[in-house]
Amino acid sequence: LKPTYASAPPSENRQRYDNKWEQDQLVKGKDQLNFVPSMDEMAVVNKDNYEYVFDELQFIDFDTDETLEGDDNINDDSVQLKLNSIKETKESLPVFKYRTEFLKAVEDNQVVIIVGETGSGKTTQLPQYLYEAGYSKDKITGKPKIIACTQPRRVAAMSVAKRVAQEMDVPLGKKVGYTIRFEDNTNEQTIIKYMTDGMLLREFLTNPELDKYSCIMIDEAHERTLSTEIILSLLKDIILHRKDLKLLIASATINADKFSTFFNGAPIFSIPGRRFPVDIHYTKNPEANYVQAAITTIFQIHTTQELPGDILVFLTGQDEIELMELSLQEAISDLKLQNQLLVNSIYANLPAELQARIFEPTPPNCRKIILATNIAETSITIDGIKFVIDPGYVKQNVYNPVTGMESLVVVPCSRASANQRAGRAGRLGPGKCFRMYTKWSFYNELDLNPVPEILRVNLTGVVLLLLSLGVNDLLHFDFMDPPSTDSIIKSLELLYSLGALNSKGQLTKTGRIMVLFPLDAMFSKSLITSLKLGVLHDTLSILSMLSESGNLFYRPKDKREQADKTRGAFSEESGDHLTLLNIYDTWVNNGYSVQWCEDNFVQYKTLKRVRDIRNQLSSLCDKVGFKGSCQKWEGKADKNEVILRALVSGFFSNVVRLSKMGDCYRKLKRNQPLFLHPSSSMHNVKPPPKLLMYHELVLTSKEFMRNVTRVKPEWVKEFGLHYFSSKDLEFMEPMRK
Ligand code: CDP
Ligand code: MG
Repeated sequence: LKPTYASAPPSENRQRYDNKWEQDQLVKGKDQLNFVPSMDEMAVVNKDNYEYVFDELQFIDFDTDETLEGDDNINDDSVQLKLNSIKETKESLPVFKYRTEFLKAVEDNQVVIIVGETGSGKTTQLPQYLYEAGYSKDKITGKPKIIACTQPRRVAAMSVAKRVAQEMDVPLGKKVGYTIRFEDNTNEQTIIKYMTDGMLLREFLTNPELDKYSCIMIDEAHERTLSTEIILSLLKDIILHRKDLKLLIASATINADKFSTFFNGAPIFSIPGRRFPVDIHYTKNPEANYVQAAITTIFQIHTTQELPGDILVFLTGQDEIELMELSLQEAISDLKLQNQLLVNSIYANLPAELQARIFEPTPPNCRKIILATNIAETSITIDGIKFVIDPGYVKQNVYNPVTGMESLVVVPCSRASANQRAGRAGRLGPGKCFRMYTKWSFYNELDLNPVPEILRVNLTGVVLLLLSLGVNDLLHFDFMDPPSTDSIIKSLELLYSLGALNSKGQLTKTGRIMVLFPLDAMFSKSLITSLKLGVLHDTLSILSMLSESGNLFYRPKDKREQADKTRGAFSEESGDHLTLLNIYDTWVNNGYSVQWCEDNFVQYKTLKRVRDIRNQLSSLCDKVGFKGSCQKWEGKADKNEVILRALVSGFFSNVVRLSKMGDCYRKLKRNQPLFLHPSSSMHNVKPPPKLLMYHELVLTSKEFMRNVTRVKPEWVKEFGLHYFSSKDLEFMEPMRK
């Protein structure tokens, strides 16, 4: 390979990019790390600049004076790379040596905390050991019982279940299965069940004692997801009277003491790790754009480091991964490296058929590049990684209980996460981690540990669920880290205004129906209203489209204008919600065609998932007794208006009005400026609509509203009556005239 090819974009190009993206509006405190807008905005806003110029070699300067120490026992049996049989693979995992001790610990204790380096075999092996030891049957009655293992992420649940089914040589979905939202791949024979923590949490509604289960392993507990924490609190109560239930809490090396303390000093079972040292490289200077820097580093590694040695890159989300994959593929093909570099990706919604690919061994003389979200930090282990590229960011949902606003934000990850990421390079031998930020940033801008989700997200869904379970005194509930009172009160207020609670704080009939759907409270409320108004059919399609987070469109390099034009043709005057409906319906009318998607630059796999989600929701509607999910509109009023009204009934708290200056939007209650996301069909509409409803906020350089639709003041009044004060709605008077 001639190094003259691979290069970073010329700095001039970078400069142009920065200027275009209102540098002065960068989020405070992130400047050092050079916060950049998410890739989908870049693709829309800076489409011309999002192309790399590979004409001059410009490697990144790295500082290299730190090493993440390996484990002491690393030499006693070094990792075998060529394992033949499944049996050998299983027996080579670090947990195998502790099988007997592990089973003894479970026998002797009701709760055991398990700590072990990622990849040691906790997730795949421990449930199998329990099964082999007879935990799939009730000790007294002999009745079948399930061994469950929760995962914070759906992809992890699916891929691990698949792996375990393979190891046990059984078909997936029978003895071994998985359950994730909108997909249940288990049957009455299932005894080892992998599931998302969210799904186990929902089981408390139908099976409050969880008596189907003999053992529950709460995996990846260190991630402290909201569902995991609520489950732990609920289980702490259940195990008092279900003495036969075994509870395992598995976690990477952080946080174990906290779990032990929470469960009254439960024993910690440690599985010694087996990791080689990893050299840490920091950039000497802050990088203007981490995606560009990561691409440069990939070529830098490829040209200077020996094979074999795969590269793992940590990105913030599916959109970013998909766009980076495109650029990378383009660069690889420009450089004629198709035979040397293979690109794979992994993120939460990766379609099942593509998941197996990442576990396939890398062909000889080839280097695999895996673009992953933080799912590869601890939940999924991919063998063969020797190099890690870590831009140091993570995408999080952040909720501000004071303003009641929740947004998706890309924020610096924690130091603990960064070290977990680096550790992924040390599984087969000494590895290297390239951090796309400076050493100064690492020690001064990254928090030590991630903030538990319960302290930073909107609790409405969880509050509704706990109330349905009869937990009425939320302020004194036994949380591991209690959320702020503000946050609980805000959720209660919203539930009250959605009609889920009465003025005494008790669950209403609407509230009881709402909780039956695995959806945010605002979604379920819209669904209920749409049933009443006779537009369930279309509302289901819109809500399914909104539930799917994957990219909907793609823009091939050579057909960008055409793609944008085609996309524009779907636009509905009222805004994005009906545009989404239009796209979905057109696809349905074209027989769910793959060709239609290709012709219209729409991602088939995204629509396919939407269809699955819609089917699931629609059968749930049938179960709940909602009729009309297949029914077509027959009313006299304008159907589109009725649909939008149904949506406002759930999302009234997301209504915003044009500011007096006309330069931004503001929520009716709070005065923070909000802006239209460049991907919205309302972007650049003249004159700007006065009143809008958004679906979600994305905070990058500014607070952007994504998926936005015009609404009428009377709808806000109709549904938001208990939410807004008369002062909040004062502005409407002149508007009506
Ligand atoms: O849970 P923990 O991180 O301790 O390890 P694990 O997920 O049980 O992984 C143990 C081994 O199984 C690793 O070597 C993985 O590479 C392998 N594995 C796999 O090959 N395919 C999967 N879908 C999951 C795990
Ligand atoms: Mg695991």
